[in-house]
Amino acid sequence: MTSEWRRGEFTLTTDPARIDVDAVHAFLTRSYWAEGIPRDVVARSLENSLCFALLHGERLVGFARVITDRATFGYLGDVYVLDEYRGRGLATWMMEVVHAHPELQGFRRWVLLTRDAHALYRKTGFSALAAPDRYMERHTPNAYKTKTPGAGKARRGILRPLDRDQRMSGARTMA
Ligand SMILES: CC(C)(COP(=O)(O)OP(=O)(O)OC[C@H]1O[C@@H](n2cnc3c(N)ncnc32)[C@H](O)[C@@H]1OP(=O)(O)O)[C@@H](O)C(=O)NCCC(=O)NCCS
Repeated sequence: MTSEWRRGEFTLTTDPARIDVDAVHAFLTRSYWAEGIPRDVVARSLENSLCFALLHGERLVGFARVITDRATFGYLGDVYVLDEYRGRGLATWMMEVVHAHPELQGFRRWVLLTRDAHALYRKTGFSALAAPDRYMERHTPNAYKTKTPGAGKARRGILRPLDRDQRMSGARTMA
């Protein structure tokens, strides 16, 4: 089910057909948190999230997505508003709409990471971690800079036996 909200000239929609993946990718690939992210990764992440697109006419000027099971937990990510639209309450409105969404109610926990926009999220009830010692993460800061998936394993020798077999079968074919 898709939903839509209006505020003056702006529309917020969860309709995947109205989300301009190229526009989201263009912003994220230059962002401090997802620099270099490939377009296909952005497309896949959008397909598997509940996305909120902020539209001015049909132009996508802001975005947020929630990674969620729609029952207990939500991770809020990739929140942005284009530079020329900032400072007029649009991100605050996006956050209010996200938190009022009927499929995102009654969660035990919401989580997000931010470098400097804490004030924005405090408005909708986020606070610093009460028990940071209970949180763990697997973080791969260079995830989008590794061009060939599995290249790390190959370098460490994990894939070498396969390579050797391939070479041997190649030699047999030639013999
Ligand atoms: C953060 C961002 C989404 C805010 O968008 P916005 O539409 O200008 O936000 P609002 O006008 O609704 O302002 C909301 C609050 O956010 C805070 N805020 C806005 N821009 C901020 C920024 N660049 N840095 C820190 N705090 C900011 C302000 O405290 C503001 O509260 P106030 O109105 O009480 O002063 C926007 O600046 C942005 O896209 N920044 C670049 C991407 C980014 O950092 N995203 C957040 C990743 S966690």
